[in-house]
Amino acid sequence: MRYWIMGGGGIGRALAAACVERGDEVNVFSRSNPELADVRWHALDITDEDAMNTVCAGLPLPERVINTVGMLHSEQWQPEKRIEQFTQEALLDHMRVNTWPTLALARLLSARMERRQPLLLAALSARVGSISDNRGGGWYSYRISKAALNMAIKNLGVEWARRFPAACVVGLHPGTVATNLSAPFRAGLPTGQLQSPEAAAQHLLAVLDGVTPEQSGRLFAWDGQEIQP
Ligand SMILES: NC(=O)c1ccc[n+]([C@@H]2O[C@H](COP(=O)([O-])OP(=O)(O)OC[C@H]3O[C@@H](n4cnc5c(N)ncnc54)[C@H](OP(=O)(O)O)[C@@H]3O)[C@@H](O)[C@H]2O)c1
Repeated sequence: MRYWIMGGGGIGRALAAACVERGDEVNVFSRSNPELADVRWHALDITDEDAMNTVCAGLPLPERVINTVGMLHSEQWQPEKRIEQFTQEALLDHMRVNTWPTLALARLLSARMERRQPLLLAALSARVGSISDNRGGGWYSYRISKAALNMAIKNLGVEWARRFPAACVVGLHPGTVATNLSAPFRAGLPTGQLQSPEAAAQHLLAVLDGVTPEQSGRLFAWDGQEIQP
């Protein structure tokens, strides 16, 4: 099977390695080279629309696309603890990284897909983007951008069911995974809840192996449980 894995961070890298191990053809698109054996690396900042179109243009379509790009904190931003810390700039930057790329990818793929294309598009979302599950509050920009991603996935699911009935788009919550993204926020996590990127990759691939076009538009956790929006 041919994969496009967007992002070579903790989870992206582990997914690429796991797919290579399974004998799949793996293309990784990221800003820096993950330097993994038997992986085709394409230099790309996925938030750059023109670059995405150029880099993907000559490539044959894959069976699976997994977008692992996401931002919870950066040199510029820390997740908000209270509304006074919230800014327009932070919100828009989180939307640019957490929401926009999956939609841009779907647009690019849709323009090239045939009606019976059996393509699976998965985007790494987060349980904290679930509106019904929000008990903790805070993290405005991250939560809002992931909730918007979940809506994007739902919307695409509706459209693709009509246009591409063999295709499927889902959101995935990977659990709490030991990567740069979660590093500052793991204190107090109950023992046993932190997964290695390698374990998370195995779980996520198992979920993807089980999803069908009938489940398109939905959000699943690493253990296969559906998460309500
Ligand atoms: N780790 C967790 O506990 C956890 C929990 C829930 C959800 N998630 C979600 O899982 C996904 C993968 O996260 P991770 O844990 O693997 O994090 P990570 O190691 O920090 O990787 C993040 C990825 O996002 C890309 N990225 C970040 N900021 C960017 C920017 N400004 N412009 C372009 N690309 C940017 C990076 O791209 P490059 O490879 O190009 O540098 C990297 O591939 C994210 O969507 C995250 O929200 C993670």
